[in-house]
Amino acid sequence: MDNSNTVKLTSLSSKGGCGCKIGPADLSQVLRELPSATPNPNVLVGLDTSDDAGVYKLSDDTAVVQTVDFFTPIVDDPYAFGQIAATNAISDVYAMGGKPITALNIVAFPISTLDKSILADILRGAGDKLKEANIALVGGHSIDDQEPKFGLAVTGIVHPDKVRTNTGAKPGDKLILTKPIGVGILTTSIKNGLLHNEEIERVTNVMTTLNKTASETMNAYDVHACTDVTGFGLLGHASEMANGSSVDMRIFYDKVPVLPRVKELAEEGSVPGGTKNNFKHLADAVTYADSMDQYDQWIMCDAVTSGGLLISVSDKDADNLLTDLQDKGVEAQIIGEVTDGNTGHIIVDKN
Ligand code: CO
Ligand code: CO
Ligand code: CO
Repeated sequence: MDNSNTVKLTSLSSKGGCGCKIGPADLSQVLRELPSATPNPNVLVGLDTSDDAGVYKLSDDTAVVQTVDFFTPIVDDPYAFGQIAATNAISDVYAMGGKPITALNIVAFPISTLDKSILADILRGAGDKLKEANIALVGGHSIDDQEPKFGLAVTGIVHPDKVRTNTGAKPGDKLILTKPIGVGILTTSIKNGLLHNEEIERVTNVMTTLNKTASETMNAYDVHACTDVTGFGLLGHASEMANGSSVDMRIFYDKVPVLPRVKELAEEGSVPGGTKNNFKHLADAVTYADSMDQYDQWIMCDAVTSGGLLISVSDKDADNLLTDLQDKGVEAQIIGEVTDGNTGHIIVDKN
């Protein structure tokens, strides 16, 4: 019997979200304290910066980009969960300016208690996204586990001189964000049964939109730095970029695209713990406008799954890149700028 319609996948899930290369802040600290390997000149991006993926130079014109991401279900539809997990995992290659080429599935599934068709649907969702991104699935690994988890390890290629790290932002740059935020609060609202079907579709659509077009488009412009917005939220990832680049930033709250009803749902109690943690971690790094209340501040720190690219582009190219992105259907906006200063501090102004 097919019971896929009666199982609420998100009720089996302890925690969603992703923190790029290493994971949630508290855990990533532990991983960073591992003794580092012998320095290797071919490691172009390694553990020492909080970037999206590792980059290893193979030859003068080719480097490999490697990343891995997996998490527990954040929506109940298994096909959509597979799409989201794949879109999110692939994104770290796009955030480095790379072209993803191969992927491996990572599966944890309670095979004795959940219908196999659910897993088949998850894999089909991921497979369809890999097809759309023109990535070859070349293998994977699965274990029996009480709590379902799914994700992928993705490998890409990039020219060693064209790697978009998060450490190159320059004063005067404009900051472009390519997807709306509010995903953490909305997916928590799904768990709490507070969203209408069309609202679930809208946020699912944001999470299943590949950053392929955004990445390929930015590669034709004078982009100094790029990352994708995921578990640490918009301000968390902006803060990593500001710190990595030794610059300050100003972000205009009114210009940041936020999905509908996010503030209302936040006020009703759907702010996830991860979002509040992000806010706490950033207490010394961010100054908020007096006009912002606690909910506005949390929204700017909201933990995102499969968010957009945050691009630091030279002022002269900013308007052209924005128009180019919007013409191609990307929900991009200029949300702020890189300012003088070298402390990594972020000021959030109303506009
Ligand atoms: Co990631
Ligand atoms: Co990332
Ligand atoms: Co990057």
